Amino acid sequence: MKPLIQKLTETFSPSGYETAIREAIRREVEPLADEIRIDPLGSLIVRKGTKNQNGKRIMIAAHMDEIGLMVTHIDENGFVRFTGIGGIRPQVLTGSRVRFVNGAAGVIGVERLTDLTKAPTLEQCFIDVGATSKKDCPVKVGDVCGFERPFLDLDKRLVAKAMDDRIGCAVAIEALRALQDTPHELYFVFTTQEEVGVRGATASAFGVDPDVGLAVDVTATGDTPKSSKMEVSLGKGPAVKVKDAGMLADPRVVDWMIRTAEKAKIPYQREVLEGGSTDARAIQLTRAGVPAGCLSIPCRYVHTPSEMVDYDDVQNAVRLLTALLSHPFDL
Ligand code: CO
Ligand code: ZN
Repeated sequence: MKPLIQKLTETFSPSGYETAIREAIRREVEPLADEIRIDPLGSLIVRKGTKNQNGKRIMIAAHMDEIGLMVTHIDENGFVRFTGIGGIRPQVLTGSRVRFVNGAAGVIGVERLTDLTKAPTLEQCFIDVGATSKKDCPVKVGDVCGFERPFLDLDKRLVAKAMDDRIGCAVAIEALRALQDTPHELYFVFTTQEEVGVRGATASAFGVDPDVGLAVDVTATGDTPKSSKMEVSLGKGPAVKVKDAGMLADPRVVDWMIRTAEKAKIPYQREVLEGGSTDARAIQLTRAGVPAGCLSIPCRYVHTPSEMVDYDDVQNAVRLLTALLSHPFDL
């Protein structure tokens, strides 16, 4: 799976500008799908199987957008000011390199700080794209960029920008590849604009109208020095979400996921995440409501240019997702 993960994480597609990643994913899923369509908000919808009398219509959502920056102002000397797209952490910006969707690149600088004990604010940061004036600046107001950082293979652990949520996309693609027969009508949806408030999934969930929903996304961990208290670690298996800041996972979905993991002898962790949410929230609240849950891949340093996952967790997430979607079940 590593070449696929590298390809997906090294593609630049901040929220709202998912064309490049959608094309990359489309090339992977085309031979595996019964039907493919793109909905009006740009999400890629891949159907596999038809519903038999024991089956359900299931939406599996992995978001393909990534956090990024958008140009708000360019000064006389060609320095670029910006706003965040999604949850940008100013303390990780200084020295970071960025790549614009139009191909231009730059490095992030910061104004002189008077109080070195405090992280700079977004307003104190700027992008230096190598311009000498407003005239020769290769970007304009409204242009968007993502972090520029190559994929890093540390053998058991993998590091990349946009692991959130290209790793979920990779898991969904590999589960689609591994699926033999299914009694279900499966809609793998690679969603847009998750990082700005689960917007793509809100629209696509309404369109798909599923019986059950599952998001595949990253979750935080509590296993680094003086981290926040959280009972999720890298390497202990994919996590079954019980709660995050935007959703109480349906207990019947949680039971189904845990039952399936135990039966297939796949390690798993129970997850309570105190900040953040996923596309599962959008699925749960669509139309008259849908039982929904989330299969999470533990990830360190979320929303930095170097997000880290464990390769065993990733492969076990593929196994668990494949097992969940292969057999009939009752909630
Ligand atoms: Co995110
Ligand atoms: Zn995410």
